[in-house]
Amino acid sequence: MSAAGFLISLGQCLATMNLYAEGHPARERALDNSYERLVRLLEGQERFDVSFVGAETVVGDRALTDLGAWDWAPRLAGVGVERIEIDAGVTSDEYARFVDDIWRRLNGRPETSAEARQMVASSIRFGPLLVREVGGGSGPVAGAGALSMLAGFASSLSLQDEAATVDWIHGEVSTSERLPMGEVEAVVRSLSVAMQMEHRMLLPLLDLKRFDQYTTTHACNVSVLAMGLAERLGLGREEVRSFGVAGLLHDLGKIRIPKEVLTKPGKLSDEERAIIQAHPVEGARIVLSRERGLGVAAVVAYEHHVCIDGGGYPSFRFTRSCHYASRIVHVCDIYDALCTNRPYRDAWEPEKALTYLESRAGTEVDTDITRVFCEMVRASIPARVPMTDEPVTV
Ligand SMILES: [Fe+2]
Ligand SMILES: [Fe+2]
Repeated sequence: MSAAGFLISLGQCLATMNLYAEGHPARERALDNSYERLVRLLEGQERFDVSFVGAETVVGDRALTDLGAWDWAPRLAGVGVERIEIDAGVTSDEYARFVDDIWRRLNGRPETSAEARQMVASSIRFGPLLVREVGGGSGPVAGAGALSMLAGFASSLSLQDEAATVDWIHGEVSTSERLPMGEVEAVVRSLSVAMQMEHRMLLPLLDLKRFDQYTTTHACNVSVLAMGLAERLGLGREEVRSFGVAGLLHDLGKIRIPKEVLTKPGKLSDEERAIIQAHPVEGARIVLSRERGLGVAAVVAYEHHVCIDGGGYPSFRFTRSCHYASRIVHVCDIYDALCTNRPYRDAWEPEKALTYLESRAGTEVDTDITRVFCEMVRASIPARVPMTDEPVTV
């Protein structure tokens, strides 16, 4: 039994309760069906947990992608049910009380009886998702009936799987004629969830384990930063997501650059520099040749090294304004590159990189975008997640 199947049955149960009065057989049937699915879902596991983050539904540390038009996540989150934990062994009575309580909340009639408060001690816990405070302590304690967010849950999104998937995507692009968009979107979706879970305090960024992982970790980081910045600049959900895809794919052209050139510690020859500077054109070509619907990603791949004053590369015959997404990715790209250890220099401290960006505003990078970016980073303390072979927490 899948988590999606159970959640859909829970939604059907709540919808049925809106249609039929208490005691109606349709209500009983929907509840029995949902409980049966829950019991099957719990077979072989100690607990089921689900979180509703923005419009996303996250089970464990994965966003569910097979929920179709299930739109209960924002509705449940809207009444303070951002996380639900259900232990194996939950009884049908406990589940019925839980569903009833949720339904009452959705209908503006929260249960306040002693029986409902007892839910805290039952096999089902639910309540707001509280983000861990910077410094490691658990979040503020939730009120009666609410679940105190598990300390460190948000930060246990390790992003290692996302990095591994990007690595695989790069391999696919190098060896086949396709751009695996399902995986690209899944990574961006997952990064978006990690960002939304942490954005009040932290921007989760990956730290480099080996130099040859630079392209992978950098792609994830630029995607997270571009989505955070686009959100802060007031863009809508769809645009934020498409800028995240563009951020993830901005350096795709680098897969054509030999590793020894990419990771060369010393000064580059003219020929090597020309190879590196061809990656925007190459990246745009790869995206355009494989995926028609990715116009923004192709433009960003092409323009992300072009400066406001016309400098950078590729060079245009006439100075022209770049796409908004390209200007966003340009800022995020420089910041992440500066804050990462490279073969030819150590990583800069965030503040030093921000000061550098501010000094380049108006010539190299967009002034307004840079100002908002620096505000965002200073307010959110980017947390770099070390890349190791073990699962890690921040
Ligand atoms: Fe680049
Ligand atoms: Fe880059």
